[in-house]
Parts: sequence; C-alpha cells; structure tokens
Amino acid sequence: MEVKVVRYVRIRVMTKATLPSTASINPRRVVLGITGGIAAYKSAELTRALKRSGIDVQVVMTDAAMKFITATTLQALSGKRVFTDLWDESIPNGMAHIELSRNADAILIAPASADFIAKLANGLCNDLLSTLCIARNANACPLVLAPAMNREMWENPATQRNVARLIADGVIILGPDSGDQACGETGMGRMLEPEALLTAVETFFAAQNTPKNLAGVTALVTAGPTFEAIDPVRGITNSSSGKMGYAIAESLRDAGAAVTLITGPTSLVIPVGIKAIQVKSASEMLSAVMHKIDEVKLFFAVAAVADYTPIAPHPQKMKKSAQGLTIKLKPTVDILATVASLPTPPFCVGFAAESENVVEYARKKRESKRIPVIVSNLATEAIGANDNQVTLIDDSGEHPIPKASKAKIAAQIVSHVATLYLKRQSPNTTESNIKPIKAPRIHNA
Ligand SMILES: Cc1cc2nc3c(=O)[nH]c(=O)nc-3n(C[C@H](O)[C@H](O)[C@H](O)COP(=O)(O)O)c2cc1C
Repeated sequence: MEVKVVRYVRIRVMTKATLPSTASINPRRVVLGITGGIAAYKSAELTRALKRSGIDVQVVMTDAAMKFITATTLQALSGKRVFTDLWDESIPNGMAHIELSRNADAILIAPASADFIAKLANGLCNDLLSTLCIARNANACPLVLAPAMNREMWENPATQRNVARLIADGVIILGPDSGDQACGETGMGRMLEPEALLTAVETFFAAQNTPKNLAGVTALVTAGPTFEAIDPVRGITNSSSGKMGYAIAESLRDAGAAVTLITGPTSLVIPVGIKAIQVKSASEMLSAVMHKIDEVKLFFAVAAVADYTPIAPHPQKMKKSAQGLTIKLKPTVDILATVASLPTPPFCVGFAAESENVVEYARKKRESKRIPVIVSNLATEAIGANDNQVTLIDDSGEHPIPKASKAKIAAQIVSHVATLYLKRQSPNTTESNIKPIKAPRIHNA
C-alpha cells in the first residue's frame, strides 16, 4: 500500500477572495527576517505583498542576505529603516534584538537558509536576526520559517534534524516547495512564492481569532477523490477537488483540534499545521482510516470515495481494441459505514453529494449509516467549485447553510458539529447558532 506521510507542513494556496482580511480592522506587525539565499530576491515582492495587505513590515537582514539584495531596496519597499546590526546604537537602549520583536505579532524568516535553521535549532545567537528570534516572547510572537535551499541541502540529515527540532519547539515551517532550482537542479527546497506566504500569514492571523473550543480534540478528515487503477496508467476517478475536505480540516485546526487529513490525489497543498497521509485508491484510504481511527474523537468523511473498483486491474497497459472494453467492477468497502459500525465509533460526520433529491437521499444515508450528522450538497454544483451550499442534518432536523465559500461553509459546519460533540461530552454546552427548519427526531447514533 502506498501511504505516504507528509513530514513537513506545507501550505494550501488559496485565493485572497477566500480569506477573511484582518488588515483593516487590526493592523498586524511582522518582522520579516531575510537570510542569505538566492530566494532573497523574492523577499522584495513579499514585502510589497505584506504591505499591500495592510501588514506593517519591519525588515531585518543577515550579513549574507545583503550579498543577495540591498537593504536600500527593502527600506524603500517597507517604508522603514532596515536593521542589520546587533550592535546598532541608534535604538535608545542599544538593544535592537529586544525592541524589534516586542511589538511584533510574528517573525517571518523568508528565505530561511540552512545555516540560519541550524542556528535556531541549536539556540545560537551571534547576529541581530538570530538573537531577535531567541529573545522573542514565544507565546505572543510566533516564529515562522520559509526554508529555501538547494535540494541536497534540504535533504541533508542535519537540516532534516534541525527542522524536526524546530517543529518540536513550536516553530511553524512553511514549505519548501519542489521544482526547478537556481542551481539548475530540480527537487525539494524552493521557497514558497510570496503570494502563498502572504496567504499563510493572513490565514494564520485569521485563525487566531477563531474560538479554540476543540482544543485537544483529535479529528480525522478524508478528502478528495480516489483513483481505482484499471491498468498501470489508467484508472477510474471523479472530479472531486478536495477543497471541501481541506477546508473542513483547516476549520477544525483553527478551532484547536489536532487534525489528520487522509487525502486522495488532489492538486491542493497540505495546509499548515495539519498532518497529512496521501493515498490513491479506496482500499488505501480505508486502510489509512482504520489505522488511525482508534486515536480520534471526530471523523469527517468528506472524500468522494469510488463506489466500485476493477476486480482485476491489468498488469500491463491495455491495447486499444476494435472490440471495445469491458471492465468488471466490484463494490468498494463503505469507509463511513465501517467506521460508524465500530463498537465505540468517533463522532461521525458524513457528506452526501447527489445530483437530485439531495436532502432526501442524505437523510436516508444518515439513517442507514446510523451517524449523528450528515451534510448534503448538490454534486453537480459542489464538486470542484470554490463555493458550496449545503444542508446539515442532525437529530434536531435540517439546517440549511446558504451559499458561501467552502472556507466559510466549513467554519459553520465545524462550529455546529463542535457544539453537538461538546454537548455529548458535557450536556450543559449551549446550542450553535445554525437554526433548524424542522425537527424530525430520527435516532441516536
Ligand atoms: C551564490 C550563493 C547562493 C546561496 N544560496 C543559498 C540558498 O539558497 N540557501 C541556503 O541555505 N544557503 C545558500 N547559500 C549559503 C549561505 O549564503 C551561507 O550558508 C550563509 O552563511 C548564510 O548566512 P545566514 O544564514 O546568516 O544568512 C548560498 C551561498 C552562495 C554563495
């Protein structure tokens, strides 16, 4: 089985339109640290992007960074003096390393060189930027790194050890991405693009405003399509983009849950702070889910899992034939039903995508699978789209959620489910603000 665990967090690229802007209501301050890597040229664009979104940017550069891009450029773009020297005497108390982080909402190091990552992992502080990072109040000022380096440098065991240590210390790592590198090689190590870094920073700030009512709760989410092989190069799949499942995973994370995402093949990037397991087929997804299910309290089955799979995939690429092609299919195992029928199942939320009679089919699906919550949506409009319009069905009835971005729909679903889940744990919890339109009592899961 090909189940690949993504070791380092990467970010999901979202359009600005899908994100709540924090800029105008609450201007944020970011210290942008630039270290010595080729990608330092992208920091100029990043500075502009952060400024455009209303974020106040204070640039701090290492000596090596100034070999790649001048402080003058960054000063012009940020509109502020750039700090580079630990021994700067212009700050009244002479302690730039303390003063610069005291008002900051985050320190973002982009690019973060292998050298700088090694320094931070070992607590070294022999220049302004590293001293600033160590002297910050870690509770008030998170440290976010966007590594950028040659792929051999990234894969070097020392770099990997250092990154793992920083993650354990609570440092957020964005990327890196894979692709063409300045050195002419191809592989992992490219810095995320400025727009993606901006999105990650905005998402991070927006998430800080979400109530953490699921703090400490473990959640498992499936997302995306599955791919059922017919032969080594062909298969049966569907047009699910994974956007709804990824949005649910992000909303759960924002509510404080520890989230594992089991994802079929999608073009989306794994969101920050979410552990992902990548699978291909329905049977791989089932195995990955069953491997994790005992550890979780909430299970969201959002993936569009294939209902059928070829009985005997051909070992070689099949040749085109004038006789046509007949493929014998067998039903796949129903993952949600399997989980829901466990002796002590987690709190299960199913998704039903139908092309007609959506709510009626969803209600029946909820009954037959004996799950507490199901979310129905119109497959023809929801699959692959950025927006969705759903009806949540639970014991108290049907709760329509009007058309909105999948991020907003996900936030409402998670808020409602959190209320139901917490109420089960402690019956005094108050109701969520999604109002039922009918109240047909069906059964308890
Ligand atoms: C042309 C050139 C390109 C470099 N590019 C990178 C890079 O992309 N990533 C990296 O980690 N180091 C890179 N280095 C090495 C760093 O600049 C070097 O390790 C330096 O000491 C980093 O200093 P700093 O971490 O204080 O900024 C490069 C060096 C040179 C000469």
